[in-house]
Amino acid sequence: MKRLDGKIALITGGNSGIGLASARRFAREGAQVIVTARRKEVLDEATASIGHGAIGIVGDVADLAHHTHVASVVRERFGKLDVYMANAGVITIQPSADVTPEVYDAQFGVNTRGVFFGVQTIAPVMRDGGSIILTSSLAATRMLDGHAVYAGSKAAIAAFARHWTMEFRARRLRVNVLSPGPVDTAILAKLGVSEADRPAFLDAVSAQIPAGRMGTAEELAEAALFLASDAGAFVNGIELNVDGGMSAA
Ligand SMILES: NC(=O)c1ccc[n+]([C@@H]2O[C@H](COP(=O)([O-])OP(=O)(O)OC[C@H]3O[C@@H](n4cnc5c(N)ncnc54)[C@H](OP(=O)(O)O)[C@@H]3O)[C@@H](O)[C@H]2O)c1
Repeated sequence: MKRLDGKIALITGGNSGIGLASARRFAREGAQVIVTARRKEVLDEATASIGHGAIGIVGDVADLAHHTHVASVVRERFGKLDVYMANAGVITIQPSADVTPEVYDAQFGVNTRGVFFGVQTIAPVMRDGGSIILTSSLAATRMLDGHAVYAGSKAAIAAFARHWTMEFRARRLRVNVLSPGPVDTAILAKLGVSEADRPAFLDAVSAQIPAGRMGTAEELAEAALFLASDAGAFVNGIELNVDGGMSAA
């Protein structure tokens, strides 16, 4: 018996990095996976690589109509959802003095508003006793240069989770936060780290992590699987730091 046999799992930002690794891990454990993201080509490739009947839905989590569409696909094709991983995220690193309202809104629109309205819209199509996983960040609780807006947008997630743990109590929906430390994914290129600067960047970041290295998307996927599966059946309302010890340092 696999750990997610017969389960339906939906992962936002499932065409790259932590979301894609989680989708592949969940599918290997028997789940039927639905992944969402904005870039269709990348999503198509990802869906093919996940296997086990995975489907992709193109859309933007900042667009509330997208969540309504996803909920209707879940209802029509699968009936109910067992696992919702709200994982899509964006980051811009810059000093607060340089932040424009557009850059601020882009991060809060995806990382905060996208998570809030995603859960509001998807929870009604979840099976009672299901698992909601919200991907936050170590940045939410630690001082990091240039991270004020990103950190603020992620910090709200722990507060949402605490309240949803209470609000969804009658339905036994578990709500947990997955909080990654630095993980080597495509997000690094989006930060503007060039291929040439990459080794020095990885060394500098790794030096701040007690484990002495960055995490992998697969390690985050393993933690997500724990929260998604019955292994985490009595785990509710927590923030799971998967960061090589960086939050303790
Ligand atoms: N990697 C790290 O070091 C790290 C550390 C802490 C927290 N995190 C968090 O972990 C999560 C996953 O990040 P990652 O490292 O795996 O980065 P990634 O490889 O860049 O993946 C980000 C995913 O989010 C999707 N996405 C971005 N904006 C979206 C939008 N508006 N609507 C729908 N999908 C959107 C992207 O697909 P499209 O571009 O195709 O839409 C992509 O699938 C994020 O929430 C991130 O903040 C990452």
